[in-house]
This record gives sequence, structure tokens and C-alpha cells, in this order.
Amino acid sequence: MGVEFLLNGETVRVEGEAPTRTLLDWLREIRGLKGTKEGCNEGDCGACTVIVSDQRGSRAVNACILFLPQLHGKAVRTVEGISGPDGQMHPVQAAMVEHHGSQCGFCTPGFIVSMAAAHKNGRSDHDDQLAGNLCRCTGYAPIIRAAEAAAGAPVPDWMAEDLARLDAGASDIAIPTSSDELAEWYAAHPDAVLIGGATDVGLWVTKRLDELKEVAFLARVDDLKSVEITDDTVRIGACASVTELMEAIAPLHPDFAEMLRRYGSVQVRNAATIGGNIANGSPIGDSPPALIALGATLHLRKGDSRRDLPLQDFFLDYGKQDRAPGEFVEAVSFPRQPDRLKCYKLTKRFDQDISAVCGCISIRTEAGKVTEARIAYGGMAGIPKRAAATEAALAGQPWTRETVTAAMAAMAEDFTPMSDMRASAGYRMKSAQNLLMRYFLEDQGQPTRVLEVAP
Ligand SMILES: Cc1cc2nc3c(=O)[nH]c(=O)nc-3n(C[C@H](O)[C@H](O)[C@H](O)COP(=O)(O)OP(=O)(O)OC[C@H]3O[C@@H](n4cnc5c(N)ncnc54)[C@H](O)[C@@H]3O)c2cc1C
Ligand code: FES
Ligand code: FES
Repeated sequence: MGVEFLLNGETVRVEGEAPTRTLLDWLREIRGLKGTKEGCNEGDCGACTVIVSDQRGSRAVNACILFLPQLHGKAVRTVEGISGPDGQMHPVQAAMVEHHGSQCGFCTPGFIVSMAAAHKNGRSDHDDQLAGNLCRCTGYAPIIRAAEAAAGAPVPDWMAEDLARLDAGASDIAIPTSSDELAEWYAAHPDAVLIGGATDVGLWVTKRLDELKEVAFLARVDDLKSVEITDDTVRIGACASVTELMEAIAPLHPDFAEMLRRYGSVQVRNAATIGGNIANGSPIGDSPPALIALGATLHLRKGDSRRDLPLQDFFLDYGKQDRAPGEFVEAVSFPRQPDRLKCYKLTKRFDQDISAVCGCISIRTEAGKVTEARIAYGGMAGIPKRAAATEAALAGQPWTRETVTAAMAAMAEDFTPMSDMRASAGYRMKSAQNLLMRYFLEDQGQPTRVLEVAP
């Protein structure tokens, strides 16, 4: 099939594999590299963590939901490539031995790779960096102690990747290298499945056993990866990862970034794209409610024609979006604005959990009155949805507890949530209403986080 990448420093060219062959399967079944483990096969446990590097840096990702063509022109390092060429231990390996960071050892290769990625990137937020790696036996304290102990050691030379050795030219798989190339190809193949980070599509293959006929990979569409911030607009390319958005948005809307810190895990955020998180139309995707509350516009493209629409209008009904065959998400943008945004992600578990309710609220006031209210929720309807009646109950009213209480009641007109394994309908409605009061109280300077599990 013609995909070329570096594997633990060696050039490999893969031919004749299905485009949806996962890196994990290929490593274990074809290359015999069995250090990379299969735990969940759905991105949840980190046992399959590998490091992928390109011109944009090195990052930990899950090999179980990573398709081989996503690696074209990049470098992969598995646990076998973390120790040196003469068997020298990497500092994180030595520290894991020293601090007794392994019991049964099944999770250990994944931990070692995540730790080596964090070490290479100079990260000291070890809890976050390892939140996507599950361990049943050791307990996390010795592992975190090992990560802390290794932090000061220099990055070993063998961790460098010589990407210049690759000839990542044309492939017989659709791996466009620009948005123009993508537009032309997709207009000619409108029934194909686009694959961004594969954090959804990967599961269609590994869990639903779908056979995808025609696919195109967005991993090299670099001109859609940036987050551009000008004096009046923030424009996020569809192929920017959740990590990239999180880092870019933190100075402008810290609560949005903080919510994204709880989106999946490091490995999932490094792979998932904003375009995928919007295009999949999920009612519980985390970025759409925040973007809608910021007044976002979606930019769609088909061939040479482009159209823009308010992001909330893209979501028509459960599983139905306003997107024509051959049309793709190019970017999403919103106006620069004073930060009034609060994002509340309610989950059963603090880290790496899908939202039961995700409430994003931005309310402007002037001289004690509400001048603008933008409120959007995930998990409350079949689509990410604006709370129009709630907003109307606030508009122009005094910014008081009474107004907020009346607006909370109006929310019953906006949503008829359902019960599922994440939450009951009653819990969803009550907590969504209470989040508005929480926003008000926080705005009045009252502490509201007393019951939240803080790291
Ligand atoms: C372990 C795990 C944890 C997760 N946690 C969260 C979470 O906390 N919050 C959350 O919101 N989501 C979460 N997700 C879901 C997933 O990360 C998102 O839905 C993700 O944003 C999808 O982006 P992607 O680039 O991986 O999409 P892909 O899987 O590549 O694609 C998803 C869909 O979008 C389409 N698509 C992709 N890019 C484009 C484009 N530019 N234009 C048009 N169509 C496009 C694809 O064809 C496909 O239909 C999690 C997933 C996993 C596996
Ligand atoms: S096997 Fe669990 S994340 Fe890949
Ligand atoms: S040491 Fe057994 S799962 Fe972590």
C-alpha cells in the first residue's frame, strides 16, 4: 500500500495491508513486536501506547486505534525502542525498577512509553500525562514517584528521530497533504469516509468490525492544523488536535482549556481532531457546546465552493448533520471576546470519561443587566443544543438570583433529556439547571467547587 515510516529508528515500508489495519495488530502479528499490549482495543487503557513523532513534535498515542496510513512520513517508537541500542535503560525504566513501579507488568510497557514521551517533552504534570494508562495492581504512587525521579535526567540520544531519512512521497492510499488536494479528492469520492484522529472511526473497525470501503486520511493536511488567533477572530483548523486547541485556547478561555484537559486522555487528545469532534455530530462531544457558547461559525468546503453556518445549525437531529456528500469541515471560528465562558463537564469519573452533561455558559452583563446570554449543552438532547428559552429568560433582565431562578425553570422548555447508563433524565435536567446557578454564584465570587474532586 505504500506507507513509509520510521519504526524505532529504522525505515519501514508497508505494502499490501488494508488501510484500516491498526498499528497494534501490525506490530504484534507482522513484526512480532509484542511489547505493545492489547488491553481494551478501544483507546481506554493505554497498554498499547506508542510515541509518534513528526515535524510538530513527539506525542503519546494509542496504537490500537491508529491506522497504518496515519503514520506515513512519521516516526513511531514502541516500548522496544525506548531502551538504548546496547540495551541501556531509559531513565524512566531505571526509575520504575528503582521505585517498584510494576507488579504483574501488563500495563508497564504502556506506562514506560507514556513516561518516555512526557520525559522527552519535559512535562512535570505526571498525573495528567499518565491519566490514560490504567494499572490494576501497582497503585499509582510508585509510578508517579518514578516519573518524578526520572524528570531531571537528560533525554537519551537514541530518542531522536531522523525524519529526513524518509521518502514519504505519493502513496496509493488517499493521504492528501493539503486542503486543496483533500477537496479535489473528496469531491470525486463523496461516499468515502474521512479519517482524522480515528478516535471514533478506529472503534468502528476494532469494535463494530466495520469494513470501510473507501477512506482518506487527514493526518498530513498540515494547512488545517493551526489555531490562528488574530485581534478579532480565533480560527481553528479542522485537523488541529484537541491537545493543540487546548494549548492555544488556554490564555483566552482558560475554562475551555481546563474542560479539554478532561477530554479522554493525553493519548486521545493527541489524536482526536476538532473537525472529527464536530463532524461526528455526537450529542456528547465536548467541544461543540463550548464553541457554540462562544458564537462559533463552521466553515465547510466541497470542491472549490465554501459555505459558513452558525455551528449550532450544523446539528440537525440525532445522527444528522447539515453536511453534503463530498463536503468536509475545514475550520471553525469565533470572535475574540472578553472571557465570560465557563465549561462544566459532569462525569462519573474525573479523568477520561465521556460527559453525562456538558454545560457551557457565557453571559455578559452591563450596569447590572444581562446584555447577552449564550448557553449550550451536550448530553441534554440528541444534538449539542443551545438553550434558547433559558437565554430569552435572561436577556435584558437584572443579573440577580431571581432572574437566574426563573431562567432555570425555563430550561424545561429547552430540553427533554433521556435516561441512559451515564445519567437519568431527572439528574440531567436538575444538574443542567443548577449549573446556571453555579455560573451565577461563581460570577458573584462565591466558591462553588467544594464537592468537586480536584487533582
Ligand atoms: C478513549 C476515548 C475517550 C474519548 N473521550 C472523549 C471526551 O472526553 N470528549 C469527547 O468529546 N469525545 C471523546 N471521545 C470521542 C472522540 O475523541 C471524538 O469524537 C473525536 O473528536 C473524534 O475526532 P477524530 O479526529 O478522532 O475523528 P475520526 O474518528 O477520525 O472521525 C470521526 C467522524 O468525523 C468525520 N470527520 C473527521 N474529520 C472530518 C472533517 N474534517 N470533515 C468532515 N468529516 C470529518 C469522520 O469521517 C467520522 O465520521 C473519546 C474517544 C475515545 C476512544
Ligand atoms: S489497548 Fe487499551 S488503549 Fe489501546
Ligand atoms: S502492574 Fe499489573 S496492571 Fe499494572
